[in-house]
Amino acid sequence: MEKFKVTPWDVKGAVDYSKLIKEFGTEPINDALLSRIKKHTKELHFMLRRKIFFCHRDMSWLLDEHEKGNKFFLYTGRASSKGGVHLGHLIPWMFAQWMQEKFDAEMWFQFPDEEKFLFSKDISLEETEKSTLEDALDVIALGFDSKKTHFLIDTKHAGLMYKHACRVAKKITLSTVKASFGFENDANIGMIFYTAMQAVPAILPSVLKEKNIPCLIPLGVDQDTHFRVSRDVMPKLGYYKPAIIHNIFLPGLKENGKMSASDTNSAIFTTDSPKDVESKIKKYAFSGGQASVEEHKKKGGNPDADVSYQYLRMLLEQDDKKLEKIYNDYKSGKMTTAELKDITIEKINAFLKEHQKKREQARKQLDRFIYKEK
Ligand code: TRP
Repeated sequence: MEKFKVTPWDVKGAVDYSKLIKEFGTEPINDALLSRIKKHTKELHFMLRRKIFFCHRDMSWLLDEHEKGNKFFLYTGRASSKGGVHLGHLIPWMFAQWMQEKFDAEMWFQFPDEEKFLFSKDISLEETEKSTLEDALDVIALGFDSKKTHFLIDTKHAGLMYKHACRVAKKITLSTVKASFGFENDANIGMIFYTAMQAVPAILPSVLKEKNIPCLIPLGVDQDTHFRVSRDVMPKLGYYKPAIIHNIFLPGLKENGKMSASDTNSAIFTTDSPKDVESKIKKYAFSGGQASVEEHKKKGGNPDADVSYQYLRMLLEQDDKKLEKIYNDYKSGKMTTAELKDITIEKINAFLKEHQKKREQARKQLDRFIYKEK
């Protein structure tokens, strides 16, 4: 099999998550940690129950601090690209919204509108500026509390962030970023500096409030590299290292690989119409079924390999009992691939209908979310 690869801009092959834990040096999420979280939240989010969030850094420390009365804030982000927001992006954001509610936590959300400009050939700053505001609507639509949520847009908040980015940047060498990201000599110098900008929101609330505040970053595991590099710097500047909790990737429609905005046939976007969703799932969603219905009835399907089933498990069917029934029926062959796809299409479209309504309402709220300097 092709060796898998996970970097902030490239995910290839069938990802082996236990190997990734070893390579990245994170800790798996175990039952002891889950019950510790549950003590505070009363129930466990389905993404925790189902190990969609599968590893972490320093969660035990974060809970120690919380139990001492030292409240944490949340931080995550989104770099706008040409493709827009897809279902895979929503995983850490939905989870973060739940954490905000359960822990009454502030949320700092970064929109590095320079990132994709620096990292890809074919997008201008004018385009990322525009699509950043569109993506922000998806974040608001998930239900974050406007009084406790602050959006940082890198080119707009540059004056606030730059000083601290410089402090971080001074402590990271070229050889470190080369080794961590695999940069070659043709990397532009903006790419080399970028990690410093992504580090800033993890310390900015501590800077502004003039006291150290713990930070928790929910993220897709591909983003870990930026923080692997910058976490070590933070204590040197007098701040806590942020805790991190990592989610696995929502699979793309086709076999292997994550959902990716740059391949429109691999992704379901938050602005897709019911017809788009239906045709993408029917045409492209990789199935764990057998070649013919007769064979399927006889041998049964493989829900673990089936992309539609994974969308239900990771995002859309939050009821464990219903999910289990679908799993068993598909595995036994009682449920056909066409039936499973129909359930998935219906679930996605019901979700998107609500989401798109809230997304439009969010246009009026946007200004309230953008951080205003005091
Ligand atoms: N680099 C991320 C992206 O490509 C955006 C981002 C900024 C981010 N800050 C973050 C992601 C913090 C996770 C956590 O979309």
